[in-house]
Amino acid sequence: MIVSMDFIAIALFFVVVIIAISIVWSTQKTGISPMMSSTKACQTMLTEISTHEKGALIDLGSGWGTLVIAVAKKYPNKQVIGYELSWFPWLVSVLYKYSMSLNNLTLYRKDFKNADLSGADTLVCYLFPGAMVALEDKLKYDMPKKITIVSNTFALPSYKPTKVIKLKDFYKTPIYVYHIQPK
Ligand SMILES: C[S@@+](CC[C@H](N)C(=O)[O-])C[C@H]1O[C@@H](n2cnc3c(N)ncnc32)[C@H](O)[C@@H]1O
Repeated sequence: MIVSMDFIAIALFFVVVIIAISIVWSTQKTGISPMMSSTKACQTMLTEISTHEKGALIDLGSGWGTLVIAVAKKYPNKQVIGYELSWFPWLVSVLYKYSMSLNNLTLYRKDFKNADLSGADTLVCYLFPGAMVALEDKLKYDMPKKITIVSNTFALPSYKPTKVIKLKDFYKTPIYVYHIQPK
């Protein structure tokens, strides 16, 4: 019995180590950890998303699913999509999705840079400056219609935000809101 308890403890230790290494590895690869948007940030971002349009809401790096799950629960008739590269946070978000029967939520383990964003009316993100440059480049080719972009903390380098909301938190975190029309 003692041997089997030891075995379980060692196996659990290795699982935790593998998960930790995979998170560190994908943080190095993507440039950002799967840090969740704060409750205040989520609430503010939720108020800014477009609910009148018929398109999907896409989270470009959905992490543990914090934002996409909140949107999918609040708007059951809206199609919600998340792209995430880090496998463990992605797996946890998929488990949440099924445990809550969120049929309007689709979660892909995929790089958003290779995704088709043309069906979206809203993009949400919490990325980093380099990824915002990549997003802007993608928008030049992948934006057939009007789109709302709500970004936690980081701005698009050359678009002028329609609105910047400063959260009442320690960092006065900015939430950038863009309403972009194709040129
Ligand atoms: C700071 S977290 C934000 C998670 C979630 N959107 C939220 O607001 O709670 C950023 C996530 O983006 C993911 N990510 C970064 N670059 C990505 C890419 N090119 N494609 C898919 N996911 C990406 C990271 O793995 C990380 O989990």
